Amino acid sequence: MYRSQRLSLRYYAAAVTLFGVMIVFGLLSALYYLYPSLLFNVFNFSTSKIMHIDTLVIWLLMAFLGAVYWYLPKELGREVEGMWLAELTFWVFCAVVIVVAAVFIFVQYGPATDFTLWFINQGRKYVEAPRWATIGIVVVMLVFAYNVVATCVKAHRMTGIMWVLALDLIPLVLVYLDAFSYDRNMSTDLYWWWWLVHMWVESTWEVLIGCVMALVLMDVMGTSRRIVETWLYIEVMLVLGAGILGLGHHYFWIGTPQYWLSIGGFFSALEPLPLLGMVIHAVYDAGAHRLKTTNRPAFFWITTEAFLNFIGAGIWGFMMTLPQINLFTHGTQWTVSHGHFAFYGAYVCGVIAVFYVAKQKTSGAAYLDGKAWKWAYGLLNIGMVGMVMGLLLAGMAQAFFGRAIGGSTLMAFTTASENPWFVSGMYARMLFGLMFAAGYVALVYDLVTSPRRIATPALQPEPA
Ligand code: HEM
Ligand code: HEM
Ligand SMILES: [Fe+2]
Repeated sequence: MYRSQRLSLRYYAAAVTLFGVMIVFGLLSALYYLYPSLLFNVFNFSTSKIMHIDTLVIWLLMAFLGAVYWYLPKELGREVEGMWLAELTFWVFCAVVIVVAAVFIFVQYGPATDFTLWFINQGRKYVEAPRWATIGIVVVMLVFAYNVVATCVKAHRMTGIMWVLALDLIPLVLVYLDAFSYDRNMSTDLYWWWWLVHMWVESTWEVLIGCVMALVLMDVMGTSRRIVETWLYIEVMLVLGAGILGLGHHYFWIGTPQYWLSIGGFFSALEPLPLLGMVIHAVYDAGAHRLKTTNRPAFFWITTEAFLNFIGAGIWGFMMTLPQINLFTHGTQWTVSHGHFAFYGAYVCGVIAVFYVAKQKTSGAAYLDGKAWKWAYGLLNIGMVGMVMGLLLAGMAQAFFGRAIGGSTLMAFTTASENPWFVSGMYARMLFGLMFAAGYVALVYDLVTSPRRIATPALQPEPA
């Protein structure tokens, strides 16, 4: 095993741990909807939600870094350049996360001064981390970018997937710099902030997960490089073609000029296309190889990624991306339903697949299967789909009763929050959330226990 792959395992361990922290704060956040006066003046909903969504962003980033450190030496046939720096920044990254989490939990907020921006909370959703920590994360990302580029240069060889990945690092790091800017004008501030949030999840991260999907398919099914790379190019072209101007779907109601209604509506309506491409890609490969794989959990998770990315991001996003509809759904639990489904389908399922790729290698199993992963798979998927449906129900109640009938007044919002459909949606989310948490426990159990030797003859991937 390469030294960089051992670093991946550390990144995966940190990621799985933060995944757990995220679930705890997700459950806590959900509890406020059932008991609104919970922990009043001790720990408020917004801090709990910050912990939930910031750990989400960080654990997924850590898993992505781990996946790249895992596959880089495999793709290029040599150890990653500058490993000591990479190892050092891993610990820096963990330390930053722990300190920021402690500040969020114990300090929570500060006066409206520069001190607060630098040391407590920047107040920008998903990237609330104070400025000093943001600088720390930029350093981690720069070291990571250096590792990738220097390894490519030293290896004197490049694969198509590596080109896409290396080029994707540029926008990935550049849009993060957006976490620094702030403007007293709220419209201007949101205008730039969306570059970060939208361009990450609907452009650069999608390209990254496309690369991961290509690598995993080659790994667990032996799909030929020519096929995965051709698909990757098509997907990337479509993602960037639709995703960049698709940004406009966040500009409908923040005070931007009216032409964003048409631009945002049109381009974001095209965004499901590349995701459909990924589904066809996965199904095609699975069919061409008659479902033969050496790693069943990884294969199931990566195929599920393709489908749920399309459904959660593509269909759930498409539902409310036209301004005519978004007028009613904007900022309701409908959005939250899509947010959960998309993040889960597009990224969580994909990184669970790479965890299993690593598990197969570290345990030396020629063929990976068993029972526990199926429990995790079932509980996580049913838990998430149940939560998403509960949220959709609640969101529809808000859209119909609060917006369409009630006319968007504060009173209508309050009344809709007491509507039985809304309330049952919140209970359903809580129940399925607990199921999801049980799935997480099964996942961790399965990842850390060594696989039983399986009697079935190891299935070798077909030669490409
Ligand atoms: C036990 C499981 C979970 C529970 C109970 C839960 C609960 C919650 C709650 C209560 C909120 C606040 C929503 C609001 O502002 O009204 C939230 C937001 C969010 N959660 Fe979760 N969550 C869970 C798992 C997840 C997972 C696995 C992901 C990602 C894959 C995720 C991603 C998000 C995102 C992106 C938001 C922000 C959505 C928005 O404001 O539109 N959550 N979650
Ligand atoms: C992996 C891909 C995606 C992820 C992770 C994702 C996640 C999210 C999240 C978390 C939000 C809530 C943002 C907030 O206000 O805090 C959001 C909003 C939104 N997303 Fe996505 N999304 C994805 C893809 C898409 C696609 C493909 C479309 C359209 C076809 C779409 C359409 C929308 C729209 C219209 C909103 C605004 C909702 C509102 O009015 O509040 N998304 N997305
Ligand atoms: Fe977006």
